[in-house]
Amino acid sequence: MKGKSSLALYGGRPVRTQPLSVMHPGATYYDNEEIKAVTEVLRYKSPYRFYGPRFLGITAKFEREFASYVGTRYALAVSSGTAALHTALISLGVGQGTEVILPTYGWVSCPAAIVAAGGTPVLANVDDSLTLDPADVKKRITSGTKAIMAVHIRGSVCDLDGLSRVAKESGVALLEDAAQCGGGSYHGRKLGSIGNVATFSFQLNKMITAGEGGAITTDDEGFYQRALMFHDAGTPYRGLSEEGLKLKVRPSPGVNYRANELASAILRVQLRKMNSIVAKTRKNKQRVVKGISKVKGIKLRRENDPAGEVGVALIFFVETPEKARLFRDALMVENVRRPSGAYPGLVYEPGKNDGHVYTHWGHLIGGLEAVAPEYRKSLELMGRAVHLDISPMDTNEDLDDITAGITKVAEALL
Ligand SMILES: Cc1ncc(COP(=O)(O)O)c(C=O)c1O
Repeated sequence: MKGKSSLALYGGRPVRTQPLSVMHPGATYYDNEEIKAVTEVLRYKSPYRFYGPRFLGITAKFEREFASYVGTRYALAVSSGTAALHTALISLGVGQGTEVILPTYGWVSCPAAIVAAGGTPVLANVDDSLTLDPADVKKRITSGTKAIMAVHIRGSVCDLDGLSRVAKESGVALLEDAAQCGGGSYHGRKLGSIGNVATFSFQLNKMITAGEGGAITTDDEGFYQRALMFHDAGTPYRGLSEEGLKLKVRPSPGVNYRANELASAILRVQLRKMNSIVAKTRKNKQRVVKGISKVKGIKLRRENDPAGEVGVALIFFVETPEKARLFRDALMVENVRRPSGAYPGLVYEPGKNDGHVYTHWGHLIGGLEAVAPEYRKSLELMGRAVHLDISPMDTNEDLDDITAGITKVAEALL
């Protein structure tokens, strides 16, 4: 076993001299194609999705292509992933007196959208996949439960068989939040096509991006029509007349979460690149996973579908939170880190501001302190989970440095 003195943390030579490149999958794939697509919208002076001086109808095209990619009858483009969640929840009938079950690990938008819809967020524990534990979800179903929000987190997919079973048995909807796992699949089916409805984000950190943006997918016509109306200020005819559809649901009020043609032009190009981005991150992650397979003292996050995850994050558990913190610190100074400064990190670190973990959602979920013991299991797992980004831009040398860094730190510290 190598001694601690080999670690840069204790004066040894670091594995790398420079940090790794940033991990912004979609944006790092921008090239002339996106520039051309955006320029066309500008040249045609038609950035609005429903009409314009020389209207191109790009958002509608993107919606058809996205629905076909995911494998659903409908896709609705919206202005963000949070807008997608809010619209989806409203369109599922979430409101005063209803509850939505969500995981302890996600993003602040998840509880925020439930509260914005008028519903009550109810937390359920994650398991060693760091996604919703179906058994824990089942315990939290009440007569007021309207939906289960299954958040595919950091590139990894939920146990959709288990969650679908609970949802069906309980007569509640299953919403997939696929913001962090675009292009992923579950047992061969694309994420976003398995739950009753699904949401996506195209914000900068996502697999494909227009800076901001989002989408909702579903096979349910009534849900689609409600979503169409809600996201478009409660207009009961606009998108429908374009599609030659008849309104089959009651008109209701809405907000403005419309997508715009500039973002859609970028996203149409990005969507054509999605599979190659995902293939690259998967391949990159597998190289590191293989490289560290014999390292003692670390245990990889369990994958509900190893073939379906998108590979943007490597997360492993060590024995204690103290060891996890030291491991992270050691990797940092080995230069196995990204310029963003956030990774390597811990999934949960007490005292650190991080909207991914429920302990930071106290303003959205009343009485969190009183129920804290129920979610100790989640914190126990997340607190000893070390977390690294994997970028599609990483070269084999970068990936081998990541492997070398993890191996070196594990041998010295664990
Ligand atoms: C799991 C999850 N849900 C929802 C969102 C919200 O997406 P947006 O930032 O596009 O509003 C995010 C985004 O960052 C996310 O990670």
